[in-house]
Amino acid sequence: MASSLVFSAWIVLGLFMAMGTLTFVPQAQAARAFFVFGDSLVDNGNNNYLATDARADSPPYGIDYPTRRPTGRFSNGLNIPDFISKQLRSESTLPYLSPELSGQRLLVGANFASAGIGVLNDTGIQFVNIIRMFRQLEYFQEYQNRVAALIGAERTKQLVNGALVLITVGGNDFVNNYYLVPYSARSREYSLPNFVKFVISEYKKLLARLYELGARRVLVTGSGPLGCVPAELAMRSRNGECSAELQRAASLFNPQLNQILQELNSQFGSDVFVGVNTQAMHNDFISNPQAYGFTTSKEACCGQGPYNGLGLCTPASNLCPNRDLYAFWDPFHPSEKANGIIVEQFMTRGSTEYMYPMNLSTIMELDSRT
Ligand SMILES: *[C@@H]1O[C@H](CO)[C@@H](O)[C@H](O)[C@H]1NC(C)=O
Ligand SMILES: *[C@@H]1O[C@H](CO)[C@@H](O)[C@H](O)[C@H]1NC(C)=O
Repeated sequence: MASSLVFSAWIVLGLFMAMGTLTFVPQAQAARAFFVFGDSLVDNGNNNYLATDARADSPPYGIDYPTRRPTGRFSNGLNIPDFISKQLRSESTLPYLSPELSGQRLLVGANFASAGIGVLNDTGIQFVNIIRMFRQLEYFQEYQNRVAALIGAERTKQLVNGALVLITVGGNDFVNNYYLVPYSARSREYSLPNFVKFVISEYKKLLARLYELGARRVLVTGSGPLGCVPAELAMRSRNGECSAELQRAASLFNPQLNQILQELNSQFGSDVFVGVNTQAMHNDFISNPQAYGFTTSKEACCGQGPYNGLGLCTPASNLCPNRDLYAFWDPFHPSEKANGIIVEQFMTRGSTEYMYPMNLSTIMELDSRT
């Protein structure tokens, strides 16, 4: 009797486990899936698995992460995708290259981003093995095949169509391509306005491909204030003013990006692409850091040289004691505190200057009804 009870309990447990791995259980249905594409601003650790210098897997990166250890995120703690996952009441997406991304965890979504990449394939060539945009999209297709083997093609399509997607790319096409060295190949080939047009036309193709692959709600962030990051202040600024050239690049890029999002939306007959004005969000910190609780938006917390903006953030760098007082964690990337504020702005900004055509709260409410 006792032994047959144990035996049937085993069978039940075995069935339950099989169901857990083979079917889409309600627990996973609770939160929508989340997919992330782009560069170091949103990479959750893919580059840890690659032979490249573009990596954030040694201290003091991750010093304020729950584990207090580096994860590959270019932050002292959480990054923008992590704060979006919290809004979705979901766990953070795993890097697509992580061996832990299998079984049920695939249903949470995945992060395909890779530090150093740009819209163009020749951006970040000095980083050698990084996952360029076309490859991130190939991995997205591969991901869908893996999920289809788990839950079937129809449910996979629903999962992808119902997902939230974030894409952050473009800054490196300037910083790690056009302006990487004086007289770079691209700057000899194109004037800045023509280079921006070229990058934007290539970006449009990537976004159309993302739609073809099933994405139906995509947050597309513009570039931040490229000329005001501590790295550019250290290299190009005399008195702490932002680099005019890089600011000009951002101010050409962002409106044209919005323009193609509107073109794609009218082509697809729906508000698939939502433009996020991260430049305006960042400018708020830069013009008035105190209003957000920062003591500085010019100096990085971790780095060396003027503004702590030279070289990389390493164990030998200067490190500020209180990361929450800095808008920038390292010479290029916002602090965890700044990332949290930026995502709050995604949620709450009512003005279409920040989120066009709508904020993330409205998106979540709309999509929960369908
Ligand atoms: C990047 O390279 C891939 C593979 O070679 C190619 O299919 C794609 O068109 C290239 N993209 C650009 C923008 O040149
Ligand atoms: C989102 O934007 C709308 C206007 O489109 C605004 O009314 C609403 O207050 C914003 N949401 C939140 C949570 O602030």
